[in-house]
Amino acid sequence: MSAAIHADGASSGVVSGRHLVAGELDVSHGVVLYLEDIAVSFDGFKALNGLSLSIDSGELRCIIGPNGAGKTTLMDVVTGRTRPDAGSCYFGQTIDLMKMSEADIAHAGIGRKFQKPTIFENHTAFENLELALKADKRVRSTLFARLGSAERDRIAQTLERIRLAGQADRQAGLLSHGQKQWLEIGMLLVQEPKLLLLDEPVAGMSDEETERTAELFLGLAGSHSLVVVEHDMAFIESIARKVTVLHEGSVLAEGPLAQVQADPRVIEVYLGR
Ligand SMILES: Nc1ncnc2c1ncn2[C@@H]1O[C@H](COP(=O)(O)OP(=O)(O)OP(=O)(O)O)[C@@H](O)[C@H]1O
Ligand SMILES: [Mg+2]
Repeated sequence: MSAAIHADGASSGVVSGRHLVAGELDVSHGVVLYLEDIAVSFDGFKALNGLSLSIDSGELRCIIGPNGAGKTTLMDVVTGRTRPDAGSCYFGQTIDLMKMSEADIAHAGIGRKFQKPTIFENHTAFENLELALKADKRVRSTLFARLGSAERDRIAQTLERIRLAGQADRQAGLLSHGQKQWLEIGMLLVQEPKLLLLDEPVAGMSDEETERTAELFLGLAGSHSLVVVEHDMAFIESIARKVTVLHEGSVLAEGPLAQVQADPRVIEVYLGR
């Protein structure tokens, strides 16, 4: 009986006490993220300068650009960490991210992976996903409640997806660098985000791990929208569809990888320094 109530509460997206600030995600126009004319200054320095960007629902977008181009700042704006001085930022058609707190933005379905994994090293891989699932405010659960079978299934599927099914009971601290990164991605996935922001996800990974990560992202695209920032061009080549080149806080070029790589302005920015 209690399991049935539990499962129902989780699947209907009922939130105890609070609800999504601006309603459900509306991607009826095919756009999951829309930024227009964003400006961010730090002590007069323009980190983002008239940045406009549109990401389609289900898209896997790569963002490249030299150090200091504003890539991480862009993610800070989308996740509510940094408030822009100007511009607008919408999640789907109706959710105005500028009016929301960092917590509410995460709650609305935008997951962000930071470079340094924030996993619980003393817990197993399974327990890490369990903790992430229970931290999801849409799931009516407490830290001490037993997992329902739907939740166990979700964790098992996620372990499969991030290639850690065989490591479920392994202490997270003992996993390889790449496996820790995947575990952190898994901790986002159990919360079923609509949009995933990944900042330099393959930094420090072995070639093998980098290839596995490319497969993971390609498998997530479609059912998820992904924005991937990376300097590793071999990795970018293996996943690239549409690529955005950022430079001095705004979009320098956008299109298929071969096209932006042949763009004289892009070549100038990468080679002329
Ligand atoms: N909190 C801050 N205070 C002051 N300046 C900042 C702050 N955050 C970023 N900057 C500056 O804004 C610019 C853009 O930084 P950002 O981290 O977004 O670049 P990036 O494209 O992610 O670079 P990288 O490829 O090196 O990670 C840089 O010149 C950086 O020094
Ligand atoms: Mg950065």
